[in-house]
Formats: sequence, structure tokens, C-alpha cells
Amino acid sequence: MTTVPRFYADSADVDAVTELLADGLVHGVTTNPTILERGGRTVTDIPELYARWDAEGAREIFFQAWGATTAEMLGHADAILTLGDKAVVKVPATRIGFAAASALARRGADVLVTAVYSPAQALAAATLGARYIAPYLGRLNDAGRDGLSEISVMQELVAASGTEVLAASLRSPGDIVDLALHGVTCFTAAPRVLLEALQHEVSDRSSAEFDAAVARGLA
Ligand code: G3P
Repeated sequence: MTTVPRFYADSADVDAVTELLADGLVHGVTTNPTILERGGRTVTDIPELYARWDAEGAREIFFQAWGATTAEMLGHADAILTLGDKAVVKVPATRIGFAAASALARRGADVLVTAVYSPAQALAAATLGARYIAPYLGRLNDAGRDGLSEISVMQELVAASGTEVLAASLRSPGDIVDLALHGVTCFTAAPRVLLEALQHEVSDRSSAEFDAAVARGLA
């Protein structure tokens, strides 16, 4: 089976996300409450952001449910899902989050279990029928762990299930390439990192040479 890799913008910086969507460079947009805060937004902006990114062509739009109980989290998850068919609910990999993920998956909803920090959590999410898990490469490394090998194990554990690894906390194009070499196909990163993945100084120099040749030919 061939799988086309997918990039997602991990951002609520609407100008940066709009640029990526308008140029058709990302499959969708992922957020969490921290990312909303970084973008100067709150959870009250979720309906507006969904409508904007849907209109701009995002094919999947992720918002995170929150709450101190499973029922509370499911209430927010339902509100997210009613935004439209591009909405995907994220829940944290906590006791409450796993219960919410199970209930959502049993109803047929696409759910992403986020902040997955161990292979056992990855396997647990797959047993519940989560559509995605999001392990955090940079933060695993920050915690002194070998993020790449831990995420490779997670990838291997869920590979035969319907659960996909959507890797997050990616801080350089090299992070994306390293994970891709271990079978990961979905990547979410800040717009800066995604744009960096498209750029190489020799490509830019080559392009300038092509333009110069065109100009000489037309002179
Ligand atoms: O989606 C993950 C992101 O919020 C964490 O990224 O680079 O702050 O660890 P970072």
C-alpha cells in the first residue's frame, strides 16, 4: 500500500496558516490550547477558526477537548465535532482523555490522542480505535529520552491498526525526515519549520540561474 505523507500546520497564527493553505502546502491545521494561546486566541475562537480554515481549504482541522471529567470533555468534543466534517477532536493521553477517546471512537468519530509519551500509551490508543496518536518528538528529547527511537517503536506498534502516528513538537526539517525514515507519514509543525523544509540555498541559486538564462534569452 502506498501512503502519501501529510504536513499539517501546528499553529493558530492565522496569517501564517492562511499562507500555507492558500498555497496548498498543508493538508490541515492542528491546534491545542497552548497553540491557541501562542496565537493570541482562546477556545472561544474555535468556531471562527474552524470556519476560516474550512473556507481556506483545510481538509482536517484539529481542536482539543478539555475538562475535569470524561462527561465534560465529551461535551466539548461534541461541540467541536458539530463544527463540520473537517473537525477532528484531540484528547490528552490521560485517564479521562482515554475514556473520552473510547466513547468518541465507539460513536465513529475521528479522534486524536495527544501528548503521547510512551509506547504503552500508543498501544492503548490503538486498542480504543483512535484515528491518530500525537507523540511529541522535541519534548521527549527535552525530557532526556530518545524521542526518535521511542516514536519508531510507537509507529511499529500501531502500524497494523487503523491508528496513524501524527508526529508533533517537530523543530526542524531534519526531525521530519528522521521520523519518515522510520515509517511515520503525518507531521505537524510550526509554519516556520514547514517553510524551512521547502527551502535549500542551492535550489534558490539554481532558480536564480534559470531566471538569468530566461532574461538573457529575451534580451
Ligand atoms: O503540538 C505540539 C506542540 O504544541 C509542541 O511543540 O516545540 O513547543 O514542543 P514544542
